[in-house]
Amino acid sequence: MKIGIDDIGLFVPEHFFPLDELAARHNIDPNKYLVGIGQELMAVPAPDEDIVTLAANAALPLIDSATRASIATVILATESGIDQSKSAGLFVHSLLGLRADCRVVEFKQACYGATAGLQMACALVRQRPQEKVLVIATDIARYEQNSEGECTQGAGAVAMIVSENPRLLEIHPHQGRYSLDVMDFWRPNYRSTALVDGKLSIDVYLESLQHAWQNYRADGGLALTDISYLCFHQPFTKMAKKAFSVFENIEPEAAKALGDKAYSTSQLYGKAIGNCYTASLYIALLSLLDKTEEDLSGQHIGLFSYGSGSVGEFFSATVVKGYQAHSRRQQHARMLAQRTRLSHAQYSDWFYGNNQPASADYSTPRVTTGAFRYCGAEGYRRLYESTAQQLQMAS
Ligand code: COA
Repeated sequence: MKIGIDDIGLFVPEHFFPLDELAARHNIDPNKYLVGIGQELMAVPAPDEDIVTLAANAALPLIDSATRASIATVILATESGIDQSKSAGLFVHSLLGLRADCRVVEFKQACYGATAGLQMACALVRQRPQEKVLVIATDIARYEQNSEGECTQGAGAVAMIVSENPRLLEIHPHQGRYSLDVMDFWRPNYRSTALVDGKLSIDVYLESLQHAWQNYRADGGLALTDISYLCFHQPFTKMAKKAFSVFENIEPEAAKALGDKAYSTSQLYGKAIGNCYTASLYIALLSLLDKTEEDLSGQHIGLFSYGSGSVGEFFSATVVKGYQAHSRRQQHARMLAQRTRLSHAQYSDWFYGNNQPASADYSTPRVTTGAFRYCGAEGYRRLYESTAQQLQMAS
């Protein structure tokens, strides 16, 4: 039975802040961010956007009436949770008008959560092939202002429909996993920004990739010579180059044959968006599928997912013949091109201001023009709004 990604969509906020301007603010050479880190623009959520609106906006174009009727599970992965009890997926389930006989759950393991969601989705489809699973990775990457991590911030969501006989990517059964209890990046409940030992996180990421790859091979996975492209979790896009160096060390001949083109196209979206934690690997995948000119049909892709703390997983997939007909590349290109540049003051206020306070009642200013917006709270209950017309158009 072939199982995998039948449809995939990206949503990013409508506003961005450029990294060269951030470098000027920090009084450092812009090439440190543009070349050394590999980031050009940071996607910035408006005060009336959160992980729910990002997720619902990413999923909406994928939901026509037949898909709506066949989604039996929603898995929302995030490490920017809005509630300790209720799954953010329930708000999304409601905004998308999904059926009631559907299970909804939130997954968390730093940036790795969506991969656990994808693997669980494949297992559920194997069990009940007539049903589809909606997996959404949605996050806002937020570090202390003026910290080393600030230049890697970003926000966005990727939604995927997992089904039998997928139209885009067939996921292979082989899995290489590696878990290690380590404090390289974490965010205690009382903090809105992450704590990070950046250098340690890079070291553990690379160690995790090496172990996960060996574990994947022992599980019967493809040889590197059979893989055409590699997509890595990219907390900043330079990380893909560092990740590839693992293969240059352990599989030098195969890595040399692949060359930098094995990962360079997968960096393009990430450079213009920034880190989106759980969504970052899938943004890399979308970047590869959307921006590669050659026909990828039948090519094998290796994917490495990493979540600090830490869990790493290497898995692989085959691009399905005819995938281009189901691509949303034009929609993604329009969305990225139409964004508005923010001033430093506006970016600081939106990223670091108290725009979504811990108050019982407040309302957010109307900024986003997306199909869904976060309106504020009444009696501590989060309120969302949808544009009915856009919902109808999608069905
Ligand atoms: N021109 C070009 N490159 C430059 C440069 C310049 N003027 N100045 C510095 N660089 C390069 C450095 O050589 C380095 O490259 P390398 O990593 O290939 O050696 C890179 O820019 C980063 O410089 P560095 O001094 O290491 O940056 P930093 O101390 O500010 O921290 C991170 C970088 C990634 C650790 C930091 O952004 C961070 O903590 N990020 C969040 C955590 C994270 O993303 N972890 C990843 C694994 S999950």
